Amino acid sequence: MIIAIDGPAASGKGTLAKAVAAHCGLAHLDSGLLYRGVAKGLIDRGLALEDEAAATEIAAQLDLSMLDAAALRGAAMGEAASRIAAHASVRAALVDLQRSFARQPGGAVIDGRDIGTAICPDADVKLFITASSEERARRRWRELVLGGAPLDYDTVLADIRRRDERDSTRSASPLRQASDAVLIDTTRLDAQAALSAALAIIGEKRARREPADLTPRARRGES
Ligand code: CDP
Repeated sequence: MIIAIDGPAASGKGTLAKAVAAHCGLAHLDSGLLYRGVAKGLIDRGLALEDEAAATEIAAQLDLSMLDAAALRGAAMGEAASRIAAHASVRAALVDLQRSFARQPGGAVIDGRDIGTAICPDADVKLFITASSEERARRRWRELVLGGAPLDYDTVLADIRRRDERDSTRSASPLRQASDAVLIDTTRLDAQAALSAALAIIGEKRARREPADLTPRARRGES
């Protein structure tokens, strides 16, 4: 089963994707790490984020097992990732890696911006996770404070709005809800409530995929 989870920054999609993957026993890929990894590759080499050719080369050579999530976190890297993610050739260079991750035996959960629209348009379940920009900024602000890299709330809110604007207006695979994705607004949901909502949708999709005479109970001869 392939589960695509998309949404804007700090919407709760990463936390949800991890929890869904653990619950369903599936592998999980945070595709944002790929774009962050490419941005860091450019910065480490002293190259400009606008250098599309170099970014594409780094993207083509990216090795998932070498990505250090802790080193890629942070507001500045998120902003840099969003800038290089607008290059169509960088996105194209990362497609195969994401698709082969999705196609592993058993399936996978992948979260990002374009998983349901561009990377896995045939995913079994597509969720689009959102929340008000103020609530997302509040969550990101708390994360930064807890992580020891505080920024003031207004700066975080402005960063989130700028990133949303760039991610949804770029021409290459912009952030948008796939027509067959189910929307979950987490503005008033905590992580547990968001997980319950997601699991209910996944359960429903699974039941629809499995014909009635193939459900486990029917197979065991129970009514
Ligand atoms: O965690 P957060 O939502 O702040 O960011 P992220 O998921 O790590 O993504 C960082 C940036 O990478 C985003 O702002 C997007 O521009 C880009 N990205 C993308 O374009 N497509 C994806 N599938 C994932 C991330």
